[in-house]
This record gives sequence, structure tokens and C-alpha cells, in this order.
Amino acid sequence: MNIYLDNSATSWPKPITVIETITSYMTDFGASPGRSAHHFSVKAAKEVFETRELLASLFNTPSSDRVVFTANATQAINTALFGLLKKGDHVITSYMEHNSVVRPLRHLEQKGIIELSIIDCDKEGYINLEKLKNSFRSNTKLVVTIHGSNVTGTIQPIKQIGKICKSKNVLYMVDASQSAGIIPIDMQEDNIDILAFTGHKELYGPMGIGGLCIKNDIQIESLMHGGTGSRSESETHPHFYPDRLEAGTLNTAGIIGLKAGIQYILDQGMNNMLKKQLQLTDYFYCKLKETNDITIYGPTRNRERLPIISLNIKDKMPSDIAYTLDKEFGIMTRAGLHCSPLAHKTIGTFPHGTVRFSMSCFTTKEDIDYTIDKIKLIQ
Ligand code: ALA
Repeated sequence: MNIYLDNSATSWPKPITVIETITSYMTDFGASPGRSAHHFSVKAAKEVFETRELLASLFNTPSSDRVVFTANATQAINTALFGLLKKGDHVITSYMEHNSVVRPLRHLEQKGIIELSIIDCDKEGYINLEKLKNSFRSNTKLVVTIHGSNVTGTIQPIKQIGKICKSKNVLYMVDASQSAGIIPIDMQEDNIDILAFTGHKELYGPMGIGGLCIKNDIQIESLMHGGTGSRSESETHPHFYPDRLEAGTLNTAGIIGLKAGIQYILDQGMNNMLKKQLQLTDYFYCKLKETNDITIYGPTRNRERLPIISLNIKDKMPSDIAYTLDKEFGIMTRAGLHCSPLAHKTIGTFPHGTVRFSMSCFTTKEDIDYTIDKIKLIQ
């Protein structure tokens, strides 16, 4: 028996169309986009362009040429932070962030480039908006927050944060690694200036593809300079988007797979997918609540969340629980700190962490019933 409940690390299985589309590209026209004028290259470039358009429409990014592809969300976040921040800038972030935000910011702080404020979150993982409002300084350049927590499933009030940032004339960047594809995001309505996403989680694409969506007038300096297939006569890197941040050959198989993943979500309906997963998460939550000695972290019932349940069983180590679930029962979860030590400090589970069960649109009630049964056995 294999029950995969580690979809926050990467979603699996992928829709069959994702696999078929990647195979078809690799088999039938696997050329490099934007590099040559032959028809395979043009066909690949068309696929890449259509993927940018789909992403721009999904997130309401003002222009699809501001959709930049990277290898993953970490590269996207690093590209934005290192390309944007200058000596003397102040940055505000939260205690629920993933290390992909915390580590580059701490690095810039330790190098003496930026000043950093990290805002408390409550036990359910929600950012303290009053503290946020009071943390702005004259040199605050950027606020960065996660959208959906990979530890607790808490969904931050990005619209409110975006509004606060706009009123202070400060840029707002959102790490949408866990939420892109499952929770609606509207860059213009939500006042998001920079959005970082990954393709291999809720967007159901393969690993190795992610990106940034950028509002029109924001200029991020490239960390990489090189071939773009454009302006080849110039010895310096082009300034226009998306080439500005896309030096080197793109992961076209990944982009094409991502396109099929997004198409799958659009065909199913994002709201339908979310509703089904949240019903299952609520069922899981309620069944666990009937059980003694289990602590569930993050939002209480009836508060909006991602399809994630993070828990501990009294007197048991999370790593031991995850090991037994996998070895004895074939249930795959992720235990520990989930690359988010500050989030675990917030919810009081540092240093051992929690066991995280993360669902996808392919998770069934039978999977959850089986899992509940085995959690009870372990308990
Ligand atoms: N950030 C990913 C997770 O939460 C990898 O598992």
C-alpha cells in the first residue's frame, strides 16, 4: 500500500496530461525556444509564450513579459532579493517564513547590506498586523511574506498586507510556493508587486520550474548574465523582461509540463479542487480531534487553510511517527522542521517539529480513513 501525503514537498501523482505533454515535447519537437528560427524552435517558443500568458492570467500579472522562469521558488526569491535590495534598505518579513526567504535575508543582513525586522505571528500562524504597521521605517524598501504556510497551512491576509504596503509606498513580495494553483491570487487586487511561485506543488508541474511575476515598473538586476537568444550583437545582458532575468537555456520541458498542470487546474476548476481538498482536510481534522493525545497545529476548524494537517502525538517523536507510518503502513509524510524553523518556534514545536500530512486533488477519503486508522494504532 502506498499513500502519498507529502504533497507540500511536491505533488504526486501528476495529472497524466502533464506526463504526456512533456513526453510529446521530448519526443516530437524538443528544440530550444527563442534560439533558432526553425519550426521546432518556433513551436517550443510558442509553448513558452503561452505558458507565460497562462500564468499572467492566473495571477493577474499586468503583463506576461514580466513572468520570468527560474528553476524553483528559492531561485526566484533569491533573484528578487539580491536583484532589488541595496545597502541601507530595511526589509520586513514574518516568523512563518520558509528558509528560502529567511536565509537570503539573514545573509544580506549579516553582510551589512540590509536591516531586517521579523514580525511575530500568533500560535495559529497569523501575522500580527499591528506590529507590521508599526515596523515601517523611512528606509523600508520591501515587505516579504509567505502566502500559505508549508508547516500549518495558515493563509496570511495578503490583501490586507498588500494594502498596508501600498499605503506606505513599500514593495510587497509574496512567497506563493504552497498556495499558487489552489488559492486564488490577484496581483493587482491584492497589491502584490512581486510574486514567487514554484511549478511542482499545487500547479502540478514537474520539479525544476518556478518563477517570478513582477509588476511593470520594478527593475530587478540580474544575478546572471549570458545568452538569451536576443540582442546577440551586444556584449552586455539585455535590460528588457523577461530576458533580463532569464540568462541561459530555459527548462522548456518543465515549462511545457507546467502549462499542462495549469491547464488541468483550469479544466477542473480551481474552486472545485480547493473545495474537495478542504472537505477532506476538515474530515481528517475532525476525526483526529476525536482522538486523545493528538495536538493539531495551525488554524482552528472553520478558518481558511491549505490542505495540510501538522500534528504531534503525546510522548512520541515526529520522526518516529513518520518512520513507522512509512515503514509499517506505506503512508508517506514529512516530519521535522520543514525548512521553516521560525514557523516551528511560532507554534511551539521547535526543535523536533511536527508530522505533516499534506493532501492533493488526488487524495481520497479512503486514503484518509486508512491514515487515521494507522495514526490511532501508533498512538
Ligand atoms: N518546502 C517544501 C516542504 O515544505 C519542500 O516540504
